[in-house]
Amino acid sequence: MIILGIETSCDETALALIEKRLDQQGQPECRVLASLVHSQADLHSAYGGVYPSLAKREHGHNLVPLLHQLFLKASEAGWPETENKESIEKQVLADLAKNFQDTIDMNRSEVSPQNPELFETFAAAHFLKEKIWPIELIAVTEGPGLEPALWVGINFARLLSELWQCPVVPINHMEGHIVGSLWSDKIRATTWQKLAVPEWPAIALLISGGHTELVTVNSPGQYQIIGQTRDDAVGEAFDKAARLLGLPYPGGPHLSLWARQAEDLGLESPVKLPRPMIHSEDCDFSFSGLKTAVLYAVREAPLDTKGLMSEDFKKALALEFELAVTEVLASKLSRAIEVTGARTIILGGGVSANTRIRNRLVITAAKLGIPVFLPDHQITGDNALMIALAAAWYDHPTLSATELKAQGTKTLNEPRV
Ligand code: KG4
Ligand code: ZN
Repeated sequence: MIILGIETSCDETALALIEKRLDQQGQPECRVLASLVHSQADLHSAYGGVYPSLAKREHGHNLVPLLHQLFLKASEAGWPETENKESIEKQVLADLAKNFQDTIDMNRSEVSPQNPELFETFAAAHFLKEKIWPIELIAVTEGPGLEPALWVGINFARLLSELWQCPVVPINHMEGHIVGSLWSDKIRATTWQKLAVPEWPAIALLISGGHTELVTVNSPGQYQIIGQTRDDAVGEAFDKAARLLGLPYPGGPHLSLWARQAEDLGLESPVKLPRPMIHSEDCDFSFSGLKTAVLYAVREAPLDTKGLMSEDFKKALALEFELAVTEVLASKLSRAIEVTGARTIILGGGVSANTRIRNRLVITAAKLGIPVFLPDHQITGDNALMIALAAAWYDHPTLSATELKAQGTKTLNEPRV
């Protein structure tokens, strides 16, 4: 089965094509035909964060050209492999030509007012009528995320599902991050491989720009959130601290680079930052106080003759910030394992690109004698491969085009309403 993944929850427009089959034991195995991510980070950088209406407009412009590129990439990898391609092609072409106009007519009044950019690019997409793409399932992120941005992906999934007459499954973005960590993206396209099968229950530490959660995974699709941030998410705290240090958005990777340089240079931190909630009995987090402590440190920083903080001061503060976050995460994760008896650790979300956090969790796991699954570097950030893989992981209920809705705040274990 060929699955198209669509991800537009934040500022990455992403599409992926995977093929799924079942092995003799009925276990799913997949291969990646193509996976593309178009980041809008540079555009949002000017605003110091993601600007939702700009993200929405950009997704609307990007999705159709990106789909075109995805097909080209997949063709280069030799897909689709069809023996009687020509006769199928003729039939599909005839069907598509008709469906295309029907789909356009049907969606003109509904999609066009909400997503004018998407509708215009879709209506101009002649290539959709010219090729044969035997896609059997569409997997689209329904939430959590920025609602206007999510809607663009949802509307695109609806248009395609009507055009291709194929079902759609809504996928939770955080589930995508969990599954992404069970996939080895080192083995490149067209090689069949299985998602790792951890020993359950697993504890997933999900750290991104919008979320910080500890989730018990009892089996695929069975989740229980046992801890979460009470204010800022880890990635948000990284981005805000980085901004206070004068770094561009998204600041996490820049701050992390400074932290490494500070360590290499042996710089001492000018202040000791707090480790918020590290001793609390629960599995919750709080990062806004840490950001405020960085603000005070910056305000009280010694300035040079030009009125500027020294580079060394900023780098040392970056290191202290990263150490504080890492210690809190490792400590809360250990507590969560104690409480739940989890037998595996899964790390996911954009912040899992951070080397210090990755290394620390590997040490934590080794001390406890349990395995840890980390996402490959190519898929730590938002991508559609993880969304397509989530659909392949177990059978999700499919929805009709009209039932699909963006669910901006939907948590992992919340039932559909
Ligand atoms: O999962 P993600 O790509 O998007 C959301 O769903 O939020 O996460 C993005 C977040 C941003 O806050 C970014 O600064 C952070 O991940 N991030 C990092 C690193 N790379 C990305 N934070 C710290 N260290 C990094 N190396
Ligand atoms: Zn994410």
